[in-house]
Amino acid sequence: MQIIHSISEMRSACLGLRSNGAELGLVPTMGALHAGHRSLVRAARETCRHVAVSIFVNPLQFAPGEDLESYPRTWEADLDLLQREGVDLVFAPSAKELYPNGTEAFVEVSAIGSRLDGASRPGHFRGVATVVAKLFHIVGPDHAFFGQKDAAQVAVLRAMIRALDFPVQMSVCPTVREEDGLAMSSRNRYLSPEERQQALALRASLDMMELAVMQDSSSVATVRSKWHAYLAAAPGVRLDYAELVDPTTLLPVEHLNAETLVAVAAWVGTTRLIDNVVLQAP
Ligand code: PAJ
Repeated sequence: MQIIHSISEMRSACLGLRSNGAELGLVPTMGALHAGHRSLVRAARETCRHVAVSIFVNPLQFAPGEDLESYPRTWEADLDLLQREGVDLVFAPSAKELYPNGTEAFVEVSAIGSRLDGASRPGHFRGVATVVAKLFHIVGPDHAFFGQKDAAQVAVLRAMIRALDFPVQMSVCPTVREEDGLAMSSRNRYLSPEERQQALALRASLDMMELAVMQDSSSVATVRSKWHAYLAAAPGVRLDYAELVDPTTLLPVEHLNAETLVAVAAWVGTTRLIDNVVLQAP
């Protein structure tokens, strides 16, 4: 496994791997790797001859006051995991390497990028789209792998690929969960034992929604308000958003007769967590 810090070296290593037509898969990450990330790497290994993983805590997608400085960094353990999974290239540039002149240009997915997390975290998806576009240009992957856990990110990046004609096939892997249902996240390690228990309300509320939609598919407003009431009553949970939206446009659905992304974001203590399920059309 080769570990590369510079753009030019990464570019030539990727060109080398792809030279005889072999497919290259990219898994972009911010490190602090867990079984969710590992599932993306495994999917990439199954699909592509070669796999590159990027580890970069992208300052551009953090707002002032968010957790950029405290974001968990577990470099040695990350490399161990990637080595075990048979990854070919690890790209770990510094912020100075990726943004030597600060930020001169951005990629912005205008409407979709300002919905859900894009509404709560203005500028977040501009940072995500910009860094992923840069990674695509540097690596030139045939496939890129993302997690369904970040459903709004998936919608934004799908739109970016479509709108800007990136020759990249996007694969979305299911959310990997802890045994008790909590969606795996690098940020889960911020949670105290009490908060870790309280955080289960997010998943529980999604289970409740699945049932509610099955039983009462008449009205979005009714099931949505039940959901909000449930989350409002959950101890230690402060709701950011809980919405039923179209998974592609992220716009609110008006009827429950189409595929629906049921997405929630909430703070538990000072940690912001997200989770979602996709309900198929009945
Ligand atoms: P990060 O949070 O490190 O996540 C990297 C990838 O792992 C994302 O595609 C995310 O959706 C996926 N992932 C995280 N937790 C998961 C889980 N429990 N199950 C399945 N997949 C999971 O997302 C980012 O980094 C950044 O925004 C990035 C795309 C790297 C751009 O900086």
